[in-house]
Formats: sequence, structure tokens, C-alpha cells
Amino acid sequence: MERHQIYIPNDIWLVNRMARSNKRIYLSPPHLDGRERELLLQAFDSNWITTLGPHVDAFEQEISEKIGVKYAAALASGTAALHLALLIIGVKQGDVVLCSNLTFVASTNAITYVGATPTFIDSDHATWNMDPALLNEELDDCARKGKLPKAVVVVDLYGQCADYEPISEACAKYGIPIIEDAAEALGATYKGNSAGKFGVMSVFSFNGNKIVTTSGGGMLLSDNEGYIKQARLLSTQARDPAPHYQHSRIGYNYRLSNLLAAVGRGQLERLDEKVARKRAINEFYRKALGEIPGIEFMPEASYGKSNFWLTVILISPEVFGADRETVRLALEAENIESRPIWKPMHMQPAFKSFRICGGKVSEDLFHRGLCLPSGTQMTEEDLKRVVKVIKRYPRPSKRK
Ligand SMILES: Cc1ncc(COP(=O)(O)O)c(C=O)c1O
Repeated sequence: MERHQIYIPNDIWLVNRMARSNKRIYLSPPHLDGRERELLLQAFDSNWITTLGPHVDAFEQEISEKIGVKYAAALASGTAALHLALLIIGVKQGDVVLCSNLTFVASTNAITYVGATPTFIDSDHATWNMDPALLNEELDDCARKGKLPKAVVVVDLYGQCADYEPISEACAKYGIPIIEDAAEALGATYKGNSAGKFGVMSVFSFNGNKIVTTSGGGMLLSDNEGYIKQARLLSTQARDPAPHYQHSRIGYNYRLSNLLAAVGRGQLERLDEKVARKRAINEFYRKALGEIPGIEFMPEASYGKSNFWLTVILISPEVFGADRETVRLALEAENIESRPIWKPMHMQPAFKSFRICGGKVSEDLFHRGLCLPSGTQMTEEDLKRVVKVIKRYPRPSKRK
């Protein structure tokens, strides 16, 4: 071997290439371009450096008004909000809770926190959200067996609302409460109503990659004042109204900080612009990639408007010429973050012993699905960089 001819393994080549490539494009990074800083400094200067204060109250009020739900409690995370929602409707050890199968793990984790058993409902091909027909069948089956679930957790996947009309009808037949996990869907609509308006309670997340972020945070909403009062009590260690720190129930430390609520208020003011930008990004990708054989986009259901928190595509390798993982790694080699879609709950080692109704639809989506960078500050140049990598295919070996 000559002096300069050294063998470079494939992964080293990737690392080197990353090191010299352009700035990293993240999947959905925080974007703070409004009054966040001003409001944060206001909170700072007011010395309300705690888990209550004027910004927490105002953030709750502003989100209630925006969504059209009467009451809201600002919490430390979306997961905390889901946990409290289940506690408040009385879900406990031994109960069954039905849940969307294709979701982020937090929807299911919360069910296990209260000792309940999840049963997973597969996705509908047309929306990727919970299949209302499968839910209906499962509820009828539970009724026949005399063990109805205590609640149904319905997820609004990647910013698109589930089909609430048939879902609500199926649940109403047996009086089963719905908890809407709208963590990903702030700003989306279903038949003219905002995401977060469905079920007895709904949940938003403000973690760092969400359309509105407080770095970490969440919100529980309901038209039932009693529920939100309970959420406020349980999220502050369930302290009785006594001066001597008495606790008749077990509580949690789940309230949102006043500093973070200030950031959230600044973010919320720009929600409409953020949704418009996410939708424009989706449109850009559709125009650039929509005609390529072997690529499909997550469908937008005619019943509503997605916030397109993430733009998601399906790649059929036999038609496209490369599989999802090859494309993901090619993007990564160009310093571009993309991500497989959520691994369905029934395929998770932690949950594989639980019942699944269907499963094939979400399995297929998982194997082929890729979330593309969708940050609201992406420039046209950034979008073109992503598209250029994907358009490298079909690979020469596949060309006949
Ligand atoms: C569908 C879904 N549910 C729940 C959560 C949990 O929210 P958090 O991270 O704020 O706890 C998230 C996001 O993280 C989510 O995507």
C-alpha cells in the first residue's frame, strides 16, 4: 500500500464528512423570535422565581382563550399533565386504559404510573391516528366481557387531530371518558375546533422540540372547573388549606415555573405564524418530493388542519431505490437530523406483553416512516439541502 492510500472505513468517512459539512439542521429546534426575552426578564425582575406567579396565571388564561376551553393548569411537562388527568378521573391499579398505539412513549407511561394496564389501538391508514372502527370493536368486546376500560387516551399524531366524531360516539356509548393527548398538536384544528378541545381533559407539551416551547412544560385543560382545581392541588403536593402543611392526599411537584410561563406566553403570541411556517415547510417538501415514486406524505385528513409539527414521509424501498434508514444516514452524513417515526407501543420491549388491537398499520408506518427537519426558522436553502440529499436516489445500483 502506498503512503497515502490508507483504508478508511465507512463510518469514519461519515464522521469526517460531517465535520466539514454545513451547519447542522435539527429536526424541530426551539425558535424564540418574539417577546420571550422581554417577558422572561419581566418575570426575573419581579422576583416571582417560583412555581406560581402572574405569568403562570396569564399563560393559563391565554391558552384557555386560544383553545376555547374554560380552565387550564400550567404544569412541569405534558407527561405530568397526562398523569394528573388519569388520577383525576380515578384510574387506578387494575384498570384498563385504551391508548393510541402509534405515539411517543409518554402517553403510555402515564397509564402505567397509576398502575393501570394499557390496551393499544392501531392507526387508521387514512390519518395515522387511532382507528375509530377498531376502538369501537374493542369497546363492544370489553362490554361483552364485562370489563370496560376506565378511559381512552387519544393522541393527535405529529400535529394532526384524531377523528373525534366517531371516537367520541364509540366512547359515549359506554360513558368512557376521553383524554386528548394533544402534546404535538397545538394550533391544529378538527372541524373548526382547536386541538385540545376534545375529551374531558386535554394535554399540551411545551418541551424543547414542540411548536411552542418553555424548554420543558405542559398544560392540562378542561371545561370542568373541578378537574382543574384538583390538578392545581395535586401538582403542588396536595396541600390542605391549613397553615401547618397538612396533606390528606398524596401530591406531586408538577407546577410550571413562573419564568418558563413567561417564555411560553411570548411563544404563544406567535403561534399562528408558527403554524403558517410549518405548513409552508410541508408544502415545500410536497412540491419538491411529492411526485417521486416510492415517497408518500402523511395524509392531511379533510376534517381538519394539521399544524404539521413535523413533516413525515413514507419511503417504499422497492420503488424508491433506498430504504428509510439509508436515507436517514445519508442526511446525517450531511449534518441533517431526521428521525424514524415513533416506534409503536406494541413493539416496545417495555410494553410487549399488553394487548394490541390490530398493529399492522403502525408497524408498516414505523418501518417506512421518516420525520424530516421541520423547524420554523429553516431557510429555503436549508430545505433545499434536505431535498437534495433525498433526491440522490434511486441509487445507481438500482438503475437499470
Ligand atoms: C404524543 C405525546 N404525548 C406526550 C408527550 C410528553 O410531553 P412532555 O415531554 O412535555 O412530558 C409528548 C412529547 O414529548 C408527545 O409527543
